[in-house]
Amino acid sequence: MKVVLQDLVKRFADSDRAAVNKINLVIEEGELAVLLGPSGCGKTTTLRMIAGLEQPDSGRITIAERDITDLAPKDRRVAMVFQNFSMYPTMNVYDNIAFPLHAVKMKRGEIDRTVREVAALVNIDHLLSRSVRQVSGGEAQRVALARAMVRRPEVFLMDEPLSNLDAKLRVQLRTEIKRLHQDTGTTFIFVTHDQEEAMTLGDKIIVMNNGDIQQVGSPHEVFFAPRNAFVANFVGTPSMNMLHGAVKSADNGGYRIQLPGFELVLPARFHDGLARMAGSRVIWGIRPEAIRLVAETGENTISGEVELVEALGSRDLIFVRAAEQLFGIIVDAQESLAVGATCRLHFAGGQMHLFDAESERSLGNILPPSVPP
Ligand SMILES: Nc1ncnc2c1ncn2[C@@H]1O[C@H](COP(=O)(O)OP(=O)(O)O)[C@@H](O)[C@H]1O
Ligand SMILES: [Mg+2]
Repeated sequence: MKVVLQDLVKRFADSDRAAVNKINLVIEEGELAVLLGPSGCGKTTTLRMIAGLEQPDSGRITIAERDITDLAPKDRRVAMVFQNFSMYPTMNVYDNIAFPLHAVKMKRGEIDRTVREVAALVNIDHLLSRSVRQVSGGEAQRVALARAMVRRPEVFLMDEPLSNLDAKLRVQLRTEIKRLHQDTGTTFIFVTHDQEEAMTLGDKIIVMNNGDIQQVGSPHEVFFAPRNAFVANFVGTPSMNMLHGAVKSADNGGYRIQLPGFELVLPARFHDGLARMAGSRVIWGIRPEAIRLVAETGENTISGEVELVEALGSRDLIFVRAAEQLFGIIVDAQESLAVGATCRLHFAGGQMHLFDAESERSLGNILPPSVPP
């Protein structure tokens, strides 16, 4: 079901700043939305308000056009899974999943059908008679998912449900959650601080910081067209290379940017943004995968020396000292360089990001591949 948050505010008594600071958000029916942001930015508080476990100071929450702000958690038809899930240790898997159905007095035959259906959805149908003490971490988290799904919630809330699992299992369960979402068509709201998890899971990513929504967009949009320097820095790993600089008008009517130790020509894409900008202080950025190693000197090209190499598998992350700055660059492992090697870095205009240093807002974006030019 469609979920709408309207001017939602939550302030905890012992804090001078709001945990959630008047946020507005629309999550469409059947969407898999991911709340992404650093620890303490207000993700859990937002989710708990939707679940009814926390009462907002002001603002409204509607699910399928029904105002649920003042409803008890049990009347909201939402389910929530936490990072630290708990189970009834004396019961087997089947009874753990069935428990919420007994509580609402469902008939035995229907309970049995529902439990088996949901267990099959998360691939634990073979574990139903097992004691929950005898299941692995990944299986336990599947039981928790099944127990939350069993009441057929209209909205399924998940608060970092994979964070306690080891890396391989996390990736595997991530795929299963995506499949569960496709199979059920239920609205999912998934919380994580892990940008890679957010990118791989989400239809829509909501980037939060300090209780505010920074950007709402597809994974491509938040990666290629970050609205501000925070999103640019938070999304993408390794992080975007960013430097403070000053913009100067060039003779040909364009702009150049003075960065510490070198100067670049800015592409026309930024001209409008720069013309509207009062100051000339900006933050310039380019992603590690967008810097190219070239043989020739030329415009927007500087030379440097490799200082550090990190193997990532098929690719390497190399750190190059150039113009006294350190740049992270992703290269194919076959084309990688050794520590001490000299090289030339080319910053293509089409790959540059630029932000107003004061407001940190983007001054012109790279178009995400999904958006036609
Ligand atoms: N019960 C609480 N009492 C007081 N402060 C809280 C409480 N829960 C969360 N906070 C504060 O609210 C802010 C947002 O917390 P939270 O929503 O848990 O963030 P996140 O889930 O993004 O890590 C943090 O500054 C946190 O310390
Ligand atoms: Mg949290």
